Amino acid sequence: MSSPLMRAVVALAPGDPDVLEIREVPRPEPSAGEVLIRVAAAGVNPVDAKTRSGAGAGKFLDEWRPASAELAAALARTPDHTAASTLAPHEDAPAGSTRPATAPSRTEDRDAEPTAPAPTGDGFPWIPGWDVAGTVEAVGFGVSRFAVGDRVCGLVGFPRAAGTYAEYVVAHVSQLSRSPRSLTDVEAAALPLAGLTAWQAMADAGDLETNRRVVITAASGGVGHIAVQVAADLGAHVIAVTSTDSCDFVRGLGAAEVIDRTAGDWTDRIDAPVDLVIDGSGHDLRAAAYATVTPGGRFIALPSTATGDPVPDTIRNPKVFVAPDGLELQLLTGTIERGMLRPHVSATFPLEQAAEAHRRIESGTTRGKIILSVG
Ligand SMILES: NC(=O)c1ccc[n+]([C@@H]2O[C@H](COP(=O)([O-])OP(=O)(O)OC[C@H]3O[C@@H](n4cnc5c(N)ncnc54)[C@H](OP(=O)(O)O)[C@@H]3O)[C@@H](O)[C@H]2O)c1
Repeated sequence: MSSPLMRAVVALAPGDPDVLEIREVPRPEPSAGEVLIRVAAAGVNPVDAKTRSGAGAGKFLDEWRPASAELAAALARTPDHTAASTLAPHEDAPAGSTRPATAPSRTEDRDAEPTAPAPTGDGFPWIPGWDVAGTVEAVGFGVSRFAVGDRVCGLVGFPRAAGTYAEYVVAHVSQLSRSPRSLTDVEAAALPLAGLTAWQAMADAGDLETNRRVVITAASGGVGHIAVQVAADLGAHVIAVTSTDSCDFVRGLGAAEVIDRTAGDWTDRIDAPVDLVIDGSGHDLRAAAYATVTPGGRFIALPSTATGDPVPDTIRNPKVFVAPDGLELQLLTGTIERGMLRPHVSATFPLEQAAEAHRRIESGTTRGKIILSVG
């Protein structure tokens, strides 16, 4: 018996945002230890766009499922169901307000000729997306941690292909947390990748503790705005570097000091050495930035493409590559339930506008997170 179909965003080959199209593909089935999630919302991250363009996590995509060969074969059996939407994104969307009023009919174009993309050998065709929030639809063998109907969120499978830009996705239970009761699904989808990056960079690799001093650049971005809140909750002295328009936003997240990066070199305004720099901008691998760090302290650049001056031997330079972790995610959801953390969603797009969402994340000016609404 063939699997039921679902709608998904598919990139047949790497390229610009317009390679993203809506197709019908087989719904995945949970294996042992996995759950099937009915996706309500999928987070959009810079790595999604980098991978779509042929870089990012591209070299890992074929290690998971749906492997591109499997997806190519499935696409060859299903109609081309591209469905352009003219709906506007939902800017600064309030709780749960994201479903388009006139979603394209699922029966449109049913008679269109199937197209049969050949796997390109570089992980494409590919269903993008690693961040998810939704509801457990079915559980695989041996799953007791979650039950049908539970609201969950997670960073799924990263950096292998996972496919959260779809109506359903499967995830191993070890990569999931219950979604915080106080968040909508749209907000919960903003947490996993950015939140785990912030946690793994600061608490794991950065050894951040109470009373330590931390500089966070790109402080209003996806990772930065969560990092500021988490560091403040850990009791650290947070110095946030941000753009003029975002100074008040970042101050409201709990930063003790806010530096406008457009008003001169931020390194000139650090009045005492810091224990940790989290550079989300990728522009601060330079001697003046290293000089702000106390000997034995740490400088962590998040963009894997960041290049610059060599880091001196006097400070440490751990590499961070975010990994799915349901237990660490649970720590973050606990922080949310205590009222000490809240992801900010600046724009929500329907699934049909994934290309527009990618253009927006590629602008490098996102405050908080961009989310795709599914369902
Ligand atoms: N290593 C890992 O595992 C890992 C994980 C997640 C993300 N990353 C990488 O880390 C970076 C940040 O991720 P993100 O999700 O936070 O991205 P994002 O949401 O796109 O961050 C955008 C923010 O970057 C800041 N920015 C833009 N241009 C800048 C400039 N010229 N100089 C300084 N800051 C600038 C702005 O913040 P302000 O206005 O506040 O300055 C902007 O709002 C990305 O390159 C991402 O790929 C790496």
